Amino acid sequence: MKRDDLNHPAIQGNKWHKLRLNLDQARKQGTLRLITFGGAYSNHIAATAAAAKTFGFETVGMIRGDELANCPQKWSPTLLTAQANGMQLHFMSRQAYRQKEDPAFLRQLQEDFPNSFILPEGGTNELAIQGFEAVIDQLDQQCPTWSHLYTAVGTGGTLAGLVKMSQRNPVSVRALFGIATLNQADYLRESISHLADNRANTAHHSVTWQLLTQYSSGGYAKTTEACLADQRWFETNFGILLDPIYTSKMVHGFLEEMRLQRIPPNSKVILYHSGGLQGRPEDTDQENEVKTD
Ligand SMILES: Cc1ncc(COP(=O)(O)O)c(C=O)c1O
Repeated sequence: MKRDDLNHPAIQGNKWHKLRLNLDQARKQGTLRLITFGGAYSNHIAATAAAAKTFGFETVGMIRGDELANCPQKWSPTLLTAQANGMQLHFMSRQAYRQKEDPAFLRQLQEDFPNSFILPEGGTNELAIQGFEAVIDQLDQQCPTWSHLYTAVGTGGTLAGLVKMSQRNPVSVRALFGIATLNQADYLRESISHLADNRANTAHHSVTWQLLTQYSSGGYAKTTEACLADQRWFETNFGILLDPIYTSKMVHGFLEEMRLQRIPPNSKVILYHSGGLQGRPEDTDQENEVKTD
């Protein structure tokens, strides 16, 4: 397991890699404020708020769901922590939130908050993709003969970054697998191909990738008994905590693929721990937070 849950004390996992070069760029441009988008349980919102506090930016979070605006008693631990880290929270109706990539809307946002650096929802942009170079460089040193890698997929930016950076200097045949955490995630293949500059399963690449959509376990922020059982088994046997939304599904998907004997003998498998532990409920009774179907 590549333990990127340990890679930074405040900005954990894939978030650190996605944000690192964006923060450098924001600083180079002389911007004072980061603005980004997310839902009430978004690890990206939590990480951006922590990064802004650590590196001295102001920060604004555009949060999906205007029903939360005047109800701080209903705020998730993620939102409360983000606010405690100095993030100004702006709640948007679900309809308005759909404009989050609309150029006219983003221009207006720049006018409303001058001298700001806008990060997209989930933090996936070109600099975020580039940020995964460091992960692949470390893996190539730590386990040079790795052949398979499993990672959790939300927007697909992390998988795309790992694929793109693996094919920079392909030393051997490598297969990367994304475990989709949302239902009906097939639509993500196109953007992952685009971001990674790599079409899935094309024979001429020594680096191939697949999006596995059958382990989403009920969809975003839901889970199943089978997934929870694999999470408990993994945590008990290896003493490594997983988060309920992303990494538990990644481990569940990997274990299922192994049971189905889809992983050839002698493979060197990396499980990418992308962090997210801030989203783990304090007590281990995760059914309180994550619905079991
Ligand atoms: C802990 C964790 N792992 C994996 C992911 C998926 O990353 P991506 O959106 O790049 O697919 C996320 C996304 O928010 C996350 O928070």
